[in-house]
Amino acid sequence: MRRKLTIAAIGATLALGLAACSGGGAGSTDGASEGSGGGGEGGLVGVAMPTQTSERWIADGDAVKKGLEEAGFEVDLQYGNDDIPTQQSQIDQMITKGAKLLIVASIDGTALANQLQAAADAGIPVIAYDRLIRDSENVDFYVTFDNYNVGVQQATSLLVGLGVLDEDGTAVPEVTGPFNVELFAGSLDDNNAHFFWKGAIDTLQPYIDEGVITVPSGQTDIEQAATLRWQQETAQKRMEDLLTSTYGGGTKLDAVLSPYDGISRGIITALQNAGYGPSRSDANPMPVVTGQDAEIASVKLIQDDVQFSTIFKDTRKLAEQAVVSAEQFLDGEDPEANDTETYDNGVKVVPSYLLTSDIVYANNIQSLLIDTGYWTAEQVEKGQA
Ligand code: GAL
Repeated sequence: MRRKLTIAAIGATLALGLAACSGGGAGSTDGASEGSGGGGEGGLVGVAMPTQTSERWIADGDAVKKGLEEAGFEVDLQYGNDDIPTQQSQIDQMITKGAKLLIVASIDGTALANQLQAAADAGIPVIAYDRLIRDSENVDFYVTFDNYNVGVQQATSLLVGLGVLDEDGTAVPEVTGPFNVELFAGSLDDNNAHFFWKGAIDTLQPYIDEGVITVPSGQTDIEQAATLRWQQETAQKRMEDLLTSTYGGGTKLDAVLSPYDGISRGIITALQNAGYGPSRSDANPMPVVTGQDAEIASVKLIQDDVQFSTIFKDTRKLAEQAVVSAEQFLDGEDPEANDTETYDNGVKVVPSYLLTSDIVYANNIQSLLIDTGYWTAEQVEKGQA
């Protein structure tokens, strides 16, 4: 019964959270306390989220908070404004306030060892949320998606966009390229960025080896492809630099591997400014651009045939899993894990619960995102929550 209530509450909260997030301008209240919730006889739970500049983290934070409150806990939800010292001090304060458990989506996964030591000293369990916290033995559990497979899906959708694979993943041998592709990675201090990259490169490497895909810039190391803090502007600037350095003489770019929708929008802006598109059906077509998170602005771009694909990770399910795991901890049980091998944080393998993700193309926006209530048809039409 409690579980059912939790799921219903999370669904309602996501709808509210997304409705409250109006796209541009998010982040102005970053770093501010979201306050604490009602009754709370179960005790205080601290929830640390990285930023409000991306709507997914707002939805995550709202859904976790609501689910915990429905389960009888008081909640201290904080956003760290993508600033490491801010997040560190927010977590310090949660511990000082007497939190019984912490749920943390880190900004820099390597920067919280002191906070986690303080939590361990006070007997407070820590659940890493979506992003693994590294270099600490005091991470007790991890809820996330199968991040390697997210990278596989990103690369697979890129190959589908080039016509090298059918949408069902079957090879189309007569399509041999060579295709010019550039590669983007996420923030190197986020453990996920490495999993996305590895899944994608493992998938693309056979095609690179066969000469079906080439990377004309030669920038094939994750360090060269990285985007600090996943920032759109940083990605736009790198794409502009690549266009200038490598595509000046009429060389045509066919596809860009992007690990996150914000990065994709930076890439698309740079490409449009350079004369590509504006859409994939125009004379000088927009290259295939991938993504992640099914952010509303990008879903609209996919519907309009500008961005090619994104990866949908249902944050409602992740929030629900975090709440279930927290309840199990606070009931004195070990949370149920479905992976005890993959996520070595440098000190230990953290028991994890992994969820699955889906590739979004223009033709399944309806079934994956609208029919499931993640976005409404009106929101997709407007490109705004
Ligand atoms: C990652 C997360 C992605 C995306 C990215 C940028 O850690 O797994 O879904 O949100 O951060 O925020």
